[in-house]
Amino acid sequence: MDIRPFDKKRDLRAVERIWYEVGWVENPAEASHVEEFLDAGNCIVGCLNDSAECAVVTVPGSICYLEQELPLCAVTGVTTSRIARKQGFARVMTALQLADAATQGAAVAALGMFDQGFYDQVGFGTGAYEHTIRFDPSTLLVDRKFRVPSRIHKDDWPQVHAAMVGRLKHHGACTLSPSKMMKAELSWGENCFGLGYYEGERLTHFFWSETKGENGPYTITHMAYRTVDELLELLALIKSHGDQISSVSMQEPPHVQLQMLLKQPFRNRRNTKRSTFENAHSSSAWFQIRILDLHACVEARHWHGPAFRFNLRLTDPAADFLPDDGWQGVGGDFTIAIGERSGVSEGFSEGLPLLETNVNTFTRLFFGIVRASQMAASDGLLIPPALIDDLEAAFCLPRMSTSWEF
Ligand SMILES: CC(C)(COP(=O)(O)OP(=O)(O)OC[C@H]1O[C@@H](n2cnc3c(N)ncnc32)[C@H](O)[C@@H]1OP(=O)(O)O)[C@@H](O)C(=O)NCCC(=O)NCCS
Repeated sequence: MDIRPFDKKRDLRAVERIWYEVGWVENPAEASHVEEFLDAGNCIVGCLNDSAECAVVTVPGSICYLEQELPLCAVTGVTTSRIARKQGFARVMTALQLADAATQGAAVAALGMFDQGFYDQVGFGTGAYEHTIRFDPSTLLVDRKFRVPSRIHKDDWPQVHAAMVGRLKHHGACTLSPSKMMKAELSWGENCFGLGYYEGERLTHFFWSETKGENGPYTITHMAYRTVDELLELLALIKSHGDQISSVSMQEPPHVQLQMLLKQPFRNRRNTKRSTFENAHSSSAWFQIRILDLHACVEARHWHGPAFRFNLRLTDPAADFLPDDGWQGVGGDFTIAIGERSGVSEGFSEGLPLLETNVNTFTRLFFGIVRASQMAASDGLLIPPALIDDLEAAFCLPRMSTSWEF
């Protein structure tokens, strides 16, 4: 396979062509932002006849494991042109990018999936459900004053990025480090606007939204706040648009159960069914995640309950797509100790229960995406009876939320 680092001079037009072919851009205005997007990340290309036909882009960042931030590799683009499908490019190149990121210190990788199954082949497991709520802003039960906001424009991407980096985090919160990433993200949509609040030069809290026509819907794509009070100010601001805007769609912010702030949510869903402004609540696990550094991840679990240990035999399907020299995934035999100071040592220890699984499933358990007691049914994982109560207790974690779509 002919795979090499992206070279802007040589490959930009070819990558734009791939993006046209997969429908990610539809006109020259949209295509003009591909360059910014690639500038912000690490891209490799797979070639046929020396022309780039597959591109895999990653971006460094961080992800919260409870309160601790771990280095993240965000896989932000995997695309194969119409003529290069099913040659194995995307799978191999994703595995190579994971190896590169792991070598550079990333502990976790995450991505937004096009569907379940494909990235499982390189070790990803499905993430937690995220709620998307579409509501009439005038029904928000937020009885709070808000100040006159400032307009946010696409050119404000450095401030928007800084606000996202400094936002109130939660288990699973992802941050993409290169600020240019935000330049590309704000550039994509048509008819977008932002509103927010500054303290001096610093944008403290804001939302960014796509909009349609006179009455909406608004679709909020980015939101950041440093405190719950700032979140409530943003919600009060959104409510103030209810005189004109009939519906707003947003991912539920992780610090609130949004349905509790809606007046008569079921009545409004019934009454707007199949309308342009339909009120709805859906959930979907759109992201996938995998461990790249077992030691760093396990050490991040500070468990204050009774300490326990187990043997772990871990397999990593990404290894099948990697060259023999270099990073081979996280497979192997280990002893895992969970407690105030958790850790991993190589090899098994005598007399401990054995957990055998792949990195996909172990990641889901480790991030609390599925409970140990659910794993038999949802992941086909048989956990030794001697271990199940300990794993159930130690990995009963808050629901993950990336609070940054990529
Ligand atoms: C997704 C995409 C990148 C795959 O590209 P590709 O280079 O053809 O992929 P590969 O050749 O490496 O792998 C294809 C294999 O994955 C399998 N596969 C694809 N989707 C799958 C799924 N949901 N579940 C399980 N396997 C899947 C295929 O059946 C094929 O298997 P085979 O080789 O045994 O026949 C390509 O279809 C694409 O560009 N799609 C549009 C853009 C997009 O959605 N990108 C993903 C963004 S998250």
